[in-house]
Amino acid sequence: MVDAGVRVSNVSKSFGADGARVKVLDDVSLTIGMGEFVSVIGPSGCGKSTLLKVVAGLIDADGGKVEIDGSTVRAAAADKRIGLVPQSPALLPWRTVLDNVRLPLTVNRRANAGRAIRDPKELLASFGLGHAMQKYPGQLSGGMQQRAAIARAFVFDPAIMLMDEPFSALDEMNRDQQRLGLLEFWQSNRKAVLFVTHSVPEAIMLSDRIVVMAAHPGRIDRIIDVDLPRPRTEEAYASDEFRELERVVRTALHEVMGGAHV
Ligand SMILES: Nc1ncnc2c1ncn2[C@@H]1O[C@H](COP(=O)(O)OP(=O)(O)OP(=O)(O)O)[C@@H](O)[C@H]1O
Ligand SMILES: [Mg+2]
Repeated sequence: MVDAGVRVSNVSKSFGADGARVKVLDDVSLTIGMGEFVSVIGPSGCGKSTLLKVVAGLIDADGGKVEIDGSTVRAAAADKRIGLVPQSPALLPWRTVLDNVRLPLTVNRRANAGRAIRDPKELLASFGLGHAMQKYPGQLSGGMQQRAAIARAFVFDPAIMLMDEPFSALDEMNRDQQRLGLLEFWQSNRKAVLFVTHSVPEAIMLSDRIVVMAAHPGRIDRIIDVDLPRPRTEEAYASDEFRELERVVRTALHEVMGGAHV
């Protein structure tokens, strides 16, 4: 058994008042090894963001348990061991890109003393934003803003990285470029990643495993192994293995969506 970066055991979560309670997560169990990249894919509303928020400690589950790196979510969050890129990036428009990335370091400075941190300038450079550090978010393209949000999540060099559709607002060409950039960064900065996406090729290109969720109630339908060799580059898209995996994942989605076109 590999060291578990994230261990989710029998987690359940419902929303709504008594008469109209909706079960959004039903007995979800999942382990992400240290340095493993796991994607979650599934129909809109099936609970992907809710699962991510439970793992991030932003919302409490009703039942079950989440362990991060052997400790509770609360302890891991307090210790800055969890990095989060939310579904819509929240860069502050009145701060430069560099100041946005520095922001987590300046909040609660005393608690951060002695903590391992990464140099914001180096991080921005490795995400291709070295030239844009003094610009404001409004002066950047959508893809560049996303990269800044991702760079910011790496400032405390967390062991666990949670990303909720970080590239969903981008057009396909830009998106592909961003995902290859992330892949390259991750290949030399291995973290346990939980990555939510709607894109089948994106899930395959990035992941070691793909978790397919079903809705009503939100649950794990199956987990698909992605055995493509690493490091992966653009050429992986053209391989027969890639296309076969695409077929497998699309069929799984088709089934959980009750035959709706994916
Ligand atoms: N705070 C909340 N209060 C009440 N209901 C909520 C809350 N958060 C999420 N839900 C409901 O839970 C369900 C799952 O939401 P969630 O955001 O996890 O879905 P998702 O899989 O991330 O969808 P998408 O792909 O559209 O982002 C939805 O029906 C949503 O309306
Ligand atoms: Mg979501």
